[in-house]
Amino acid sequence: MFDGDTPLTLDEGIALCAQCHVEYVCGNSPIDGIDRDYFPWARHYGNDAKCFARHMPKVTRTGDSTQFTSHWLASPLKYLTPEPAATFAATFGVEVDSEGLISPCASCHGGKQSQRKSKAERIQDDTYADALAVESALVTSLSAIKTAKDALATGQAVDPVLLESAIEDHRAAHVRWENLVVSENSMGFHNPTEVEDERMTALGLAQSATASATAGTNCAAGCAPAAGVVPDGFQVPGVPLTVTRHSTGELEFNWSASCVSGDTDFAIYEGTLGSFTSHAPASCTTGGATTSILQPGSGNRYYLVLPHNGVWEGSHGYRGDGSLRPRGASVCYPQAVGTCG
Ligand code: HEC
Ligand code: HEC
Repeated sequence: MFDGDTPLTLDEGIALCAQCHVEYVCGNSPIDGIDRDYFPWARHYGNDAKCFARHMPKVTRTGDSTQFTSHWLASPLKYLTPEPAATFAATFGVEVDSEGLISPCASCHGGKQSQRKSKAERIQDDTYADALAVESALVTSLSAIKTAKDALATGQAVDPVLLESAIEDHRAAHVRWENLVVSENSMGFHNPTEVEDERMTALGLAQSATASATAGTNCAAGCAPAAGVVPDGFQVPGVPLTVTRHSTGELEFNWSASCVSGDTDFAIYEGTLGSFTSHAPASCTTGGATTSILQPGSGNRYYLVLPHNGVWEGSHGYRGDGSLRPRGASVCYPQAVGTCG
């Protein structure tokens, strides 16, 4: 039960407003793992200032010195500006200070309150200018990613790993910029240090997105070619994979070289029969050999042999109906399947 006679603790005072004023991300952020549901991360939190201390300042009734809590929930900057402060004071019959202001900051910060306002505005102006720089880096990274995708669409060599990492970095930069810098509502004031950190991180990520996308687009010489598939004697001509059981219980596998000549090595995947996406690496290399001996796992197993070139792995082959077999949850290399030949 709410007891109106007992003052709220700091956390209760913050939770009062955080019933609605929460961050976009509740709990640990999947982006950076930090838990900052609402504004305990504010600088003034450490100085025992509840949200309502500055958004709902104590005001004094003109004439009889009665103090009460203002229910004009506004940015403190409004109280610190001669107008609307004067209209508010006249409407509700409350006092203003010598500068014509009602300062929510005066209980802790003495001196001219207009200077306190300038200081707060300077923090906001700096944050805004810095946020614009991140915004423009984000736009640049988007253009670079679009250039890479357009090149890919017209069949040019684009490094898929670099493109994927450009997209990831762009996303991570965007979330930080949006969540903590621009939509947090105080334009940096609630915690200038943390916002600065996040902004710098966002800027770095946006710049690295641009660098990766650009490098991936211009990789004609350096791009790793995609990998192929081993013959199945059906969709891909050649001698298919054979398996022989030795008296020791070990299995001997023999297969033919990949249909892509640049594939220098092979991975063997093992799965449980009946669960045809359960395959996981039994071995990520055969040292280039097209034969291998393995001790099988227990139960009924199936095996797939994939060619790879140390950067990409090729295809898991075709199912009976001609469709490509899906990847399992655990893999040796990222997959890029090229055309045979
Ligand atoms: C029941 C939900 C709720 C609670 C609780 C709540 N707010 Fe709000 N608050 C809102 C909504 C919704 C808006 C946006 C209104 C709009 O956009 O016009 C808002 C707007 C604001 C604004 C901006 C007003 C302006 O000038 O534009 C401030 C400041 C604010 N709230 C402070 C607080 C403080 C301080 C507390 C705790 C004492 C609090 N709020 C508790 C829902 C809530
Ligand atoms: C409950 C007391 C309290 C209230 C109320 C308060 N502050 Fe502060 N504030 C502090 C303390 C203590 C520090 C210094 C600690 C620090 O820098 O971390 C501080 C630091 C600051 C700083 C950074 C240091 C500086 O002077 O540049 C600014 C800016 C600031 N406050 C502005 C404001 C504004 C604007 C308000 C009113 C909206 C306000 N404060 C209300 C206690 C308070």
